[in-house]
Amino acid sequence: MRLEGKVAAITGAGSGMGRAAALRFAQEGAVVVVVDIDGPAAQAVRDEVAAAGGRAMAVRADVAQASDVKGMVDAAESTFGGLDILYNNAGYWRYAIDGYEPGVTDGPSPLLTEDIWETTINVSLKGTYLGARYGIPALRRRGGGSIINCSSVAAFRVGHGASDAYTAAKGGVVALTRSLAVEHGPEGIRVNCIVPGPIETPLVDRIPPEAREAFGANVPLGRWGRPEDIANMALFLASSESAYCTGQMFVVDGGYLAL
Ligand SMILES: NC(=O)c1ccc[n+]([C@@H]2O[C@H](COP(=O)([O-])OP(=O)(O)OC[C@H]3O[C@@H](n4cnc5c(N)ncnc54)[C@H](O)[C@@H]3O)[C@@H](O)[C@H]2O)c1
Repeated sequence: MRLEGKVAAITGAGSGMGRAAALRFAQEGAVVVVVDIDGPAAQAVRDEVAAAGGRAMAVRADVAQASDVKGMVDAAESTFGGLDILYNNAGYWRYAIDGYEPGVTDGPSPLLTEDIWETTINVSLKGTYLGARYGIPALRRRGGGSIINCSSVAAFRVGHGASDAYTAAKGGVVALTRSLAVEHGPEGIRVNCIVPGPIETPLVDRIPPEAREAFGANVPLGRWGRPEDIANMALFLASSESAYCTGQMFVVDGGYLAL
């Protein structure tokens, strides 16, 4: 068991990669705080973890709201006695909400409204900052810990339908990861980020099949990734196997960025 005795909070854990990580972490002995803005989805994943023999609790929280993020950390400490691992996984991608719009790629677009900009930055970037702000004191109380943030290949290679806001938010997550790692390394708090490539999750469900196929064909390994591909990297970063890794990006993209 690679996470025996550890308490892990995972945001956006009601679906996709966060759900896969919740199941994987619990399988390896962690007690999991399943956090999502969608309360019933968090509860359903909590039930899945329990059905598989693991221990978890569900917390409804919007990562863009300071009081919710503080509540998530408080819940971990009061219910499970502390927090060792914080996986800031929740993100917002505009096309997941509005539907894919062929021909609209990157660049300042009239469709990139201020609302979309704010929501994207608030969930992906501010949410990561708030996780660190309230999570770090809890990790410090345990004598150290691991923070895993979530970036995207969209921060490095654009032109496949991600808006500028998403690119900016996910690029910001990389920079924030590095600065937090430098600042909190001396306290034994490691901070890394995963850079997922195209992964089959409900987030990308609204991309039409032909566009999905074309995108998958651009990946050297010839397929979209699975949520478990990311959960395995998150497990490595959560565990002591990555004890000497901090401030880094871990790309899991089937070779997409190598093209
Ligand atoms: N799927 C991909 O191809 C891909 C690629 C690169 C990066 N990512 C990133 O990976 C992360 C996970 O995405 P996924 O594909 O598993 O998506 P998903 O839609 O399957 O799951 C995301 C979960 O986050 C929750 N969520 C959304 N806003 C939230 C908020 N404000 N507070 C708390 N929870 C919130 C949703 O309710 C949902 O349950 C995101 O940060 C996403 O941007 C996804």
